[in-house]
Amino acid sequence: MKQADVCVIGAGPGGYVAAIKAAQLGKKVIIVERDKWGGVCLNVGCIPSKALITAAHFYDQLQHADEMGFNVGKTTIDFKKMQVWKSGVVNKLTSGVVQLLKANGCETISGEAQFVSPTDLEVKSSNGGGVERIKATNFIIATGSRPVQIPGFEYDGKTVFNSTDALEQSSLPKRLAVIGGGYIGLEIGSFYQKFGVEVTVIEATKGLLTGVTDPDCAQVIFRKLKKAGVNFLFNAKAVGYKKAGSDLNVIVSVEGKEQKIPCDKILVTVGRKPNSDQLNLQKAGVKIDPKGFIEVNKQLKTNVPHIYAIGDVAGQPMLAHKGMREGIIAAEVIAGKNLVMDVKTIPAVIFTDPEIASAGMMVEEAQSKGFDVGVGQFPYVANGRALTMNSGEGFVKMVVDKKTNVVLGVHIVGAEASQLISEAALAIEMGATAEDIASTIHPHPTLPEMMMEAAEAAFGPPIHIFTRVNRDHATRLPTKSP
Ligand code: NAI
Repeated sequence: MKQADVCVIGAGPGGYVAAIKAAQLGKKVIIVERDKWGGVCLNVGCIPSKALITAAHFYDQLQHADEMGFNVGKTTIDFKKMQVWKSGVVNKLTSGVVQLLKANGCETISGEAQFVSPTDLEVKSSNGGGVERIKATNFIIATGSRPVQIPGFEYDGKTVFNSTDALEQSSLPKRLAVIGGGYIGLEIGSFYQKFGVEVTVIEATKGLLTGVTDPDCAQVIFRKLKKAGVNFLFNAKAVGYKKAGSDLNVIVSVEGKEQKIPCDKILVTVGRKPNSDQLNLQKAGVKIDPKGFIEVNKQLKTNVPHIYAIGDVAGQPMLAHKGMREGIIAAEVIAGKNLVMDVKTIPAVIFTDPEIASAGMMVEEAQSKGFDVGVGQFPYVANGRALTMNSGEGFVKMVVDKKTNVVLGVHIVGAEASQLISEAALAIEMGATAEDIASTIHPHPTLPEMMMEAAEAAFGPPIHIFTRVNRDHATRLPTKSP
């Protein structure tokens, strides 16, 4: 029997961060992982997908290199070699996680954990080491999520892929049908398209990313993907597939009518579900909600006060950085600090080309909460650095409360949107006004100048673009004295 102050179950971004933090705060920590250290994000999610997205972007830039005066000739893809490079990136990070855990004094155990009581776990070793018991004063459940499976599309890794399979192929199909035009479908579908694969996106709702992101941002991505040759079917439900010789036909019901989409491989990305059903939670007495998420309070405590849950298994949004923050809070609460998870925004990024990044409220959301909403928008095409990067597509949109000019939300579509959004998140957390951002000197020439100019556009005319809207702005003076 092993004993610990804190036992963390799951070593994804939520779990390993919680373990390191708890150890830094002087706790004796054991962390158990049944599969790969670093979890979905490092091994089969965020990191490998971003590696392949970067490679596809690079390949795409090579196709357009002649615009900058390069004669590169025909570029070919060695997808096997690319996978080796991608795995190298992943391995560096995952071995770094194990080293960090050990350096901080955390004991690492490879095995599958199940509760046998509210204070005891049984861990079945992944390396044939039998079953071990762990007694802990506190537990942090960080077991993540897995892809949802839909009827008629059993994952086999050969013809029907989930996101993990799609990131691990050693060759490219000719045609790929993507079921679900959400975060994962668009990210993976985009890079397959760039590598020359004919992609069809089958989406059950009426548009892309409906209700998930700013509709104008989604529209930019939709137009760009369509122009690049991606086919879209909306209001379309994939109901099954049939083999026809070497072809596959996805059967799609579009507004009640059946259509066949011919393809070679099928990628199913229709959401993820929490891993709360493989832990024997009933033995611990921990409650889950009807969707399978573990119910937690603002201190990440479950209904059993010494058992905490963080990350995907503890609710939406299923984002690595949300899990990391929750991990830190859970560890600090266990160490006796009186903290709560109380954030104004959890920024989100969709790594399409160009990227979409957002923090805070969308226009409609702010209106529905009773704000008199003002919007300042600035296009990439009017930013010097964007043009030197050959990336004049997109905009920064700032949503403000007209009465106070306090920043309520920022939505960006364009190059490096993922890097730009942190300034917006800080502004929202600090309760900054558009004037605060507009009067902060931003270095020139850089992309963040667009944040400054979108802020200016929210209460007055910005310098580097003229629109008719400027006339209306002239009547709206800043509310703060300088
Ligand atoms: P999602 O919830 O983003 O999108 C799923 C889409 O599938 C929806 O648009 C839905 O309408 C559609 N759909 C469902 N059933 C369908 C059917 N039978 N036929 C056609 N369409 C159907 O889920 P996704 O893309 O699998 O991502 C899961 C989670 O992973 C998300 O919650 C996201 O937060 C996270 N994630 C985050 C990333 C990031 O931060 N960049 C990247 C990838 C995933």
